[in-house]
Amino acid sequence: MSGSILVFDSGIGGLSVLAEIKKSLPLHQYIYLFDNARLPYGELADQALIDGCVELIVKQVKLHKVAIVVIACNTASTLVLPALRAALTIPVVGVVPAIKPAALISRNQHIALLATPATVKRTYTDKLINQFAADCQVERLGSSELVLLAEQQAAGQEIAQQQYIDILRPLSDTEVDVVVLGCTHFPMIREQIAACFKKQVILLDSGQAIANRVCYLLANEHVSQIKEEDIAYFTRADIDEGLAKTLSEYGFTAWQHIEPYSAM
Ligand code: DGL
Repeated sequence: MSGSILVFDSGIGGLSVLAEIKKSLPLHQYIYLFDNARLPYGELADQALIDGCVELIVKQVKLHKVAIVVIACNTASTLVLPALRAALTIPVVGVVPAIKPAALISRNQHIALLATPATVKRTYTDKLINQFAADCQVERLGSSELVLLAEQQAAGQEIAQQQYIDILRPLSDTEVDVVVLGCTHFPMIREQIAACFKKQVILLDSGQAIANRVCYLLANEHVSQIKEEDIAYFTRADIDEGLAKTLSEYGFTAWQHIEPYSAM
């Protein structure tokens, strides 16, 4: 069978995951679905997040020939996967913060999770930390502001480094040697985050792990590529020139508004 790869996020963050998958699977058709009308997801109530994600994704899966769905959003993945998997018959891959590898490579057993305010508080995250980083001191910093800065940067706006420094201070003042980028927006501002730390820290994201999983599942299901242009769908009324430029840098030649979640 043949089919495209649908990558989902609230905003531009999922492009960091899409880029990793594309390195391994450059010939597939990519559909990028981003729910920017409801961004930031880290501020949404749980049920509203679940219902909206399921509605938007299921609708697009029905409209296109999709072989696999990638929830390139930690905030959504740590919550919506069971409901989404129940609604779809194709594989759904989620992204979870890279706590396990971080705990393994930390030299001083002092690590940080940098994510959205919702992700740092999830029961899922507590379990992940208890299971894989019980021997570590784990700092948690949730910031929607940082998500919005990544969006502004992708839209071509100049951001003063001091803004990143102020947000990251609770972590940069500690002795952490590994920082888990537990929000897919953050690899998009990796250099700016790294520059906030006086000492060298390892910034870990889950992009490569997701790409490996997608490759494995597509090979397993014998999925071949659809040779059509990549297309992005967004829920805000329009996107500005800067964001359109970013989408084209990630290989998109077409983008289109779709109706947002009906209960908004
Ligand atoms: N990119 C998302 C994540 O990985 C969500 C950011 C947001 O909308 O708050 O968590």
